Amino acid sequence: MEVVQVREEEMPILAELANGIWHEYFPCILSEEQIDYMVEKFQSLKAMTEQIEKQGYEYYFLRDNEKNVGYMGIHPEEEKLFLSKLYVTKDNRGKGYSSNAFSFLEQYCREKGKKAIWLTVNKYNDHTIEVYRHRGFQVIKSQVSDIGNGYVMDDYVMEKEIQC
Ligand SMILES: CC(C)(COP(=O)(O)OP(=O)(O)OC[C@H]1O[C@@H](n2cnc3c(N)ncnc32)[C@H](O)[C@@H]1OP(=O)(O)O)[C@@H](O)C(=O)NCCC(=O)NCCS
Repeated sequence: MEVVQVREEEMPILAELANGIWHEYFPCILSEEQIDYMVEKFQSLKAMTEQIEKQGYEYYFLRDNEKNVGYMGIHPEEEKLFLSKLYVTKDNRGKGYSSNAFSFLEQYCREKGKKAIWLTVNKYNDHTIEVYRHRGFQVIKSQVSDIGNGYVMDDYVMEKEIQC
């Protein structure tokens, strides 16, 4: 599997991939209305383009045999790397793609001198929390974030130290 940075002309493909995964996966945790709202606010073409151009985010496809099997979004900070998004398409889960993505991120941190990777995950996203724990992440706090329109994100913050 390759981890390939998304090019500007590929952004509509990324937005379509994100929209599909979010509407397939999150109905077990969030209402359809909240998913629509969050996709528009965080994962639409406009939102992700702004994150890249104005906030320093980077998006990557997880690609196998020229097929996009998932994507991730990261935000490098002064000392740590924020893993903002990591999603694998339904048919491709459980095949080791996220483990490859984490190996890529850990190498990225070593090369750029980042001391840790941190992320947020919905408190009821049990399987994903187990995968993160398996990879060495620990819950460091829980937080409820107001995202507007009467919605909140009810999350754990998880972090993994990276040895340089
Ligand atoms: C969570 C997600 C990204 C994991 O990706 P994946 O490609 O399916 O995961 P992998 O197949 O690479 O498995 C990752 C590791 O977790 C392990 N694992 C899987 N299920 C596990 C469980 N229940 N308990 C402990 N470890 C588990 C695997 O064995 C693998 O470890 P290994 O490489 O050491 O063998 C993916 O399932 C996904 O997109 N889920 C839906 C969306 C989502 O919740 N995204 C994250 C939002 S914060």
